Amino acid sequence: MPSAIFTRGLMRDYGSVRAVEPLDLEVDAGECLGFLGPNGAGKTTVTRMLTGLIAPSAGSAVILGHDLEAGARHVRRTVGVLTEQPGLYKRLSARENLRFYARLYGLSSPEARIDDYLKRLDLWAARDRPAATYSRGMAQKVAIIRALLHEPELVFLDEPTSGLDVESALTVRDFILTLKGEGRTVFLCTHNLDEAERVCDRVAVFRRRILALGPADQLRLDLSGRQVAIRLEQEGRDPLAALSRLPFVRQAHFAAGELVTTLDDPQSQTADVVRVLVECGARVQAVRAATASLEEVYLKLVDGPSR
Ligand SMILES: Nc1ncnc2c1ncn2[C@@H]1O[C@H](COP(=O)(O)OP(=O)(O)OP(=O)(O)O)[C@@H](O)[C@H]1O
Ligand SMILES: [Mg+2]
Repeated sequence: MPSAIFTRGLMRDYGSVRAVEPLDLEVDAGECLGFLGPNGAGKTTVTRMLTGLIAPSAGSAVILGHDLEAGARHVRRTVGVLTEQPGLYKRLSARENLRFYARLYGLSSPEARIDDYLKRLDLWAARDRPAATYSRGMAQKVAIIRALLHEPELVFLDEPTSGLDVESALTVRDFILTLKGEGRTVFLCTHNLDEAERVCDRVAVFRRRILALGPADQLRLDLSGRQVAIRLEQEGRDPLAALSRLPFVRQAHFAAGELVTTLDDPQSQTADVVRVLVECGARVQAVRAATASLEEVYLKLVDGPSR
């Protein structure tokens, strides 16, 4: 199957400031890719380039089989985009806003779809009120619907749940899963790691360039190593020093009353760790697998040097 997004050396400078280093990225059709990174990492810049809203400084991209340079106009019409700002017509209601945009897309009878989406995103009661009276979260949800009106195969969502309360965020998250279930490709910029882990097939940790890319559980294992947490009833004599002498213990520290060790291969090495601890006079109460969270992996990656 051809890639939904394919870039080679795609980069962007703002004046003398490089916002995005040359980027090679492939996103499969039907895949949900999470794009994570700190403020100013260049996520929105990448999204704007991939949707034909701004031109890259160099490099190329093929979006749904169309070269972006030659066909930016086509790409803009074909993909769905939720930008950082909802940008609704304040005097128009949700329904009027959506009908207006449906006309721009040239949709012939969008009413049923608009009403269906309004219901699914809990906006039905507010459908005829002017958008000026909407909360930020409500406006955000209308903008999400606008991005989907023309049933795009590829949807870019730039922080869709920012500013949403817990319940609305859950609704939107479920909605993203529905889009995925319908076979659409989703490019999801988010600061919410839990969200990325729940809905994305792969996540990219990005700061001007991709720092890591893969399924979230793979990144957790690859970048944190396999961790084993050991609760000790008695510490014995300097267990950290004893463990540091084992060649396969990559790291060991105490956290929240447990001795957390990072091993190359816990399956074959945990028994030796326990033996060494017992030899130090420790009494072992419990042993459990404790691979790092995506948040820990993320912080490790983005807290590193910027170049
Ligand atoms: N129009 C612009 N003119 C000049 N610099 C810009 C412009 N847009 C973005 N930048 C700069 O490019 C870099 C990347 O910004 P971008 O908005 O892409 O980051 P982001 O990852 O989306 O951040 P956030 O998480 O805060 O939304 C930042 O240093 C920003 O200041
Ligand atoms: Mg942004």
